[in-house]
Amino acid sequence: MALIAILPGDGIGPEVTAEAVRVLDALSLDLTFEEALVGGAAYHATGHPLPAETLDLAKRADAILFGAVGDPSCDALERSLRPEQAILGLRKELALFANLRPAKLFPGLEDASALKPEVAAAIDMVIVRELNGDVYFGEKGFRTNAAGNREGYDVMSYDEAEVLRIAHVGFRTAQKRGGKLCSVDKANVLETSQLWRDVVIEVSALYPDVALTHMYVDNAAMQLVRNPGQFDVIVTGNLFGDILSDQASMCAGSIGMLPSASLDANGKGLYEPIHGSAPDIAGQGKANPCATILSAAMLLRHSLGLDAAADRIEAAVGKALTDGARTADLGGSLSTRAMGDAVLAALEGLK
Ligand code: NAI
Ligand code: MG
Repeated sequence: MALIAILPGDGIGPEVTAEAVRVLDALSLDLTFEEALVGGAAYHATGHPLPAETLDLAKRADAILFGAVGDPSCDALERSLRPEQAILGLRKELALFANLRPAKLFPGLEDASALKPEVAAAIDMVIVRELNGDVYFGEKGFRTNAAGNREGYDVMSYDEAEVLRIAHVGFRTAQKRGGKLCSVDKANVLETSQLWRDVVIEVSALYPDVALTHMYVDNAAMQLVRNPGQFDVIVTGNLFGDILSDQASMCAGSIGMLPSASLDANGKGLYEPIHGSAPDIAGQGKANPCATILSAAMLLRHSLGLDAAADRIEAAVGKALTDGARTADLGGSLSTRAMGDAVLAALEGLK
């Protein structure tokens, strides 16, 4: 029996997580669920966004399903108490260094993409983003500089071991897909990127079956819009990956459609939609639950080896969309619950 930690979070997190749990339940797998508070919900109840009980559950569990955090009522708090610290803390504490973000256009969503339908239809890629290093985790602070001006700074750095392990994930992901890996950096300007590129090239010797290319991040941003079909797997650092994966999501229809996995070295993982807590629509029952439902499918596949069940969830989401089910972000009017119902009905129909 596998233990799944359910961490709904705040904002739309609880709304979308509830639908994903309903879908997991409907599969009658040998799973137990244990829920804990995280983010703004945890701060308001306990004074901390990542309470010790929550971290303990996350460590005990075989896998974690996470909603979203980002309660704006916590905006004035010092940084260490903000909801977003919970997700950063979980990534660090559980050594979740590899973030896999598939982006593909489901049939029928061509019109929801920001791109021309024929360009969008070709999108089927995975962005592998490093999660534990880069500018988010470097030395940071405020100071008054020599000119007497206030200055903020965040140091970007990568250690070769950090680049090495994410490069391996990138190459292995490409091996299982189309055999193409594009490493994205800014090696024309940044020393961090020069090291990144050197290490990726060294690792490539072990994967002669993968075609490696390099692209500067500004060009990658352009190519994602111009011709996204050229990409199979992209491997990149934390900052560039954060931005490019959100961009890829708009190309693929909606941020409400895209799941993610954050894995440690042993395949344990935290699974979450790539979107945040969407305070602008929280509590209104309007959020698209598909990204979280598809995250649950990734959980079954990557942490529990339940590939057939994962395939069924993905097929059910595809069928619900083909049958016309749409939340507001996809140009429809279904509520979060009704979209969950549509996926459950499709799952029933696929039995
Ligand atoms: P966001 O992803 O929460 O929202 C961006 C836009 O997309 C909003 O207009 C929102 O309504 C829409 N949207 C997002 N998810 C949707 C869904 N499932 N269905 C329909 N529409 C959806 O990003 P934003 O506004 O930049 O951040 C809000 C808060 O979330 C911030 O506090 C941010 O720090 C936090 N955040 C948390 C993340 C996490 O929990 N891992 C990731 C990204 C942001
Ligand atoms: Mg982001």
